[in-house]
Amino acid sequence: MGLPLLLRVLPLIALLNGASGETTAAIGTFADVNTECKACPHSLCPNILAYEQGESANVTCWTRGTRIIDTTLWLRSTSDCYVTEYDLNDNITDYTSALPYCGPGSEDEDLTLEDATLKYKTECRICPTISCDTVAYLKEDTDVELTCWTPDGQVIIDDPYWMKTTNNCYVAQKNLYSKPDITYLDPCGPIPYLEIEKHFNENGTSDVDKRDAAPEPGTFAPSYLINVTVGENYALCRSCAQETCRVERRYVFDQEVWLQCLVDTNGTWWSETTDFCYVKNSDFWQSPEGDYYRNPLCEYFEEPGAGPGDGDD
Ligand SMILES: *[C@@H]1O[C@H](CO)[C@@H](O)[C@H](O)[C@H]1NC(C)=O
Ligand SMILES: *[C@@H]1O[C@H](CO)[C@@H](O)[C@H](O)[C@H]1NC(C)=O
Ligand SMILES: *[C@@H]1O[C@H](CO)[C@@H](O)[C@H](O)[C@H]1NC(C)=O
Ligand SMILES: *[C@@H]1O[C@H](CO)[C@@H](O)[C@H](O)[C@H]1NC(C)=O
Ligand SMILES: *[C@@H]1O[C@H](CO)[C@@H](O)[C@H](O)[C@H]1NC(C)=O
Repeated sequence: MGLPLLLRVLPLIALLNGASGETTAAIGTFADVNTECKACPHSLCPNILAYEQGESANVTCWTRGTRIIDTTLWLRSTSDCYVTEYDLNDNITDYTSALPYCGPGSEDEDLTLEDATLKYKTECRICPTISCDTVAYLKEDTDVELTCWTPDGQVIIDDPYWMKTTNNCYVAQKNLYSKPDITYLDPCGPIPYLEIEKHFNENGTSDVDKRDAAPEPGTFAPSYLINVTVGENYALCRSCAQETCRVERRYVFDQEVWLQCLVDTNGTWWSETTDFCYVKNSDFWQSPEGDYYRNPLCEYFEEPGAGPGDGDD
């Protein structure tokens, strides 16, 4: 792993000079997986640092915070942020006897919150790009509570801002009815690439507002609002994904249309647009059902248990 042998076999105890000039015992450790070092020891707290797998950290005291799988222990690093014990080198068995308690004030969870509502079907992801795993499929008109924002997410149509919800996953700002007033919200800080596989809430053991269980179905195809253009003289948008359904709209040649998700009607692909009606994919220049887009099926958003209420209470 390119790490010094010493770091890999021994808990490294070093003496560091704190800002105050006092000497503080620190334990040298490293991240087992990509992880986040947070302003407070709870999964929803904003990030101060992102650690890559194998990256070393010196930790100086322990505290209690969000339970991650089997531990509520979090460690404060010399960068003044907190990382869950679960994501650290687990060869160091007892941080609590080797290090002092950070003090009761360290357990506080200080969050900024703002309500918002989803305008479209939205995948809530473990990190803010479409290659990140989907934590929950949320329907249009789902109320979400936002806790921080990032300007560095994947551009959706024309907007790179994503917001983290209190369901501990990120939604694209483009999918909200209106842009939240981010002056009231914390920035999320640097966000590492995270995977459900490595941050899996096995048996629902992590605290509810944290790493949520993977929803059904278990396929995590990337998706987002995609823009396509009409390739026929016109394209009819219907109330459901069949030729016999009522025509609600007519898009014209070369018109740009934004799509939410896919329906397979007896082998013919249709797409639900942001006008909440359905167009046959063959009416577009592009093939929205293709691997390039990897749009989700509309039915994913109907799955019971895929919504934010699952595990919320
Ligand atoms: C943990 O310790 C075991 C046995 O001492 C050793 O084989 C292993 O490489 C260590 N793993 C890490 C990640 O340090
Ligand atoms: C941890 O402390 C050691 C010893 O003082 C130092 O060499 C190392 O750079 C520190 N690592 C980090 C990530 O701060
Ligand atoms: C989850 O449940 C299975 C079966 O009961 C058990 O073997 C496993 O250890 C549990 N995992 C955790 C993290 O509790
Ligand atoms: C989608 O929008 C982007 C940005 O406006 C544009 O560059 C791109 O050509 C559009 N794609 C289609 C298929 O219309
Ligand atoms: C799909 O195919 C089945 C069996 O061939 C048929 O009964 C059904 O009406 C078809 N549905 C549509 C929407 O064409």
